Amino acid sequence: MKSNGFNKINTAVFISGNGSNLKNLIKFSLSKKSPINIKFVLSDKKNAKGLRFPKLHNINYKIYNFSDKSKVENKIIKDLKKKQIKLICLAGFLKILSKNFIKKFKNEILNIHPSLLPKYKGLNTHKRVIENNEKYTGCTVHVVNAKLDSGKIILQKKIKINKKDNYKSLAKKVLKQEHVLYPRAIKKFLILKKKFYL
Ligand code: GRF
Repeated sequence: MKSNGFNKINTAVFISGNGSNLKNLIKFSLSKKSPINIKFVLSDKKNAKGLRFPKLHNINYKIYNFSDKSKVENKIIKDLKKKQIKLICLAGFLKILSKNFIKKFKNEILNIHPSLLPKYKGLNTHKRVIENNEKYTGCTVHVVNAKLDSGKIILQKKIKINKKDNYKSLAKKVLKQEHVLYPRAIKKFLILKKKFYL
């Protein structure tokens, strides 16, 4: 499959939950000029709601049991290499990948985080942002390295917090912007890697 003269990048998306980013990335991948082809979806949770999207679009998916992390990661590495996956997009994936795994896909893993990194790494970001009376929040797409939510930032979107916002309304507002940001960040990342041009 080609896009702008480039081969589309074989991409895997990792999820644990609702999968609204996955749904959005599938839509993006299906557009003619998209640089990616979503070949595989991985979940660590068998009941992840987001699994309905690969089913709907006939995309290969698999659930992995992380109770023995190093064993399962080795299996995943094998499976992804076999499928010639060149880009991994974490989209609400709640497991922390090991240094070994990240090394195997060096500079090939992106994550979306619902804050203006480096602020508010980790979980429960919106709750902490509200509790701290922040005036702005946002979302960030970054490269995954061995430190949690700390790799090179590809793109960020700043979002104003209104007085009436609570953590639920904020989560909704941020998620909407994540859906705009992730495809843009993927394009930018691949352009920087010279795997794609506009
Ligand atoms: C998003 O807010 C994302 O930034 C965070 O987890 C949430 C996943 O949402 N990492 P969804 O499963 O894509 O709807």
